[in-house]
Amino acid sequence: NPIPPLNIMISGAPASGKGTQCQLITQKYGLVHVAAGDLLRAEISTGSPNGKLAKEYMEKGELVPDHIVVSMVKDRLNQPDSIRNGWLLDGYPRSLSQATALHQFGFQPHLFILLHVSEDILVDRVVGRRLDPLTGNIYHLQYSPPETQEIAARLTQRFDDTEQKVKLRLNTHHQNVEAVLSLYKDITVQVDGNVSKEEVFAQIDSALTTLLEKRKAASGSV
Ligand code: AP5
Repeated sequence: NPIPPLNIMISGAPASGKGTQCQLITQKYGLVHVAAGDLLRAEISTGSPNGKLAKEYMEKGELVPDHIVVSMVKDRLNQPDSIRNGWLLDGYPRSLSQATALHQFGFQPHLFILLHVSEDILVDRVVGRRLDPLTGNIYHLQYSPPETQEIAARLTQRFDDTEQKVKLRLNTHHQNVEAVLSLYKDITVQVDGNVSKEEVFAQIDSALTTLLEKRKAASGSV
């Protein structure tokens, strides 16, 4: 029997490095990266009523209402590429109701990656983060500077990446995280996210390698 594609969730505080690790994971494992925040920012850029409403919540660092987020994520996970290649879900679920909805739609992760980063480091990472609108690459002025002047000149900053807004986002995170974690504790891998991005990835890579070996052994294809 063929082994079904991998389904992974990644969670952690704002700027804990989820997006950065997702780029490294997708490069090696070929999963489809589905980021709730990216889906919302794409909706905002269309100027739709849902996008306008979402932006109001994101400006306040609060969770965007379920009626917008849940179907957006569900639709993306149901796309043929996610079904065929497996998915890497980033920034969802952020509440019990979001987790329940996902479960009801039949989406179950095999592994839940949890990044731990101390709060002073998070603020530093948010304030220095820059994005390349052309490639989608994530940079940091200090820790991951752009490779060329040309890239440096076109970098943008997210509207919610200020010290004041990240504090609001952190509050929201603390209010919701425990309820979500308790649901996935049996499949959670705890990752120290305070170290360099390569060292963080090494921990994740080792957990994924172990998981893939187990799945292979269980399917009898070794
Ligand atoms: P979202 O876009 O998901 O933002 P977030 O959770 O705050 O996470 P970030 O994207 O800010 O950070 P990240 O962990 O991906 O870090 P990154 O890799 O970029 O959500 C935004 C908003 O949308 C929410 O506030 C909410 O309003 C709404 N929303 C989203 N999902 C929702 C949901 N499910 N329901 C309702 N509302 C929702 O790294 C950060 C920086 O650090 C970068 O500059 C990077 O270069 C640097 N860096 C990364 N790793 C390292 C390292 N190891 N060492 C040094 N620097 C590093």
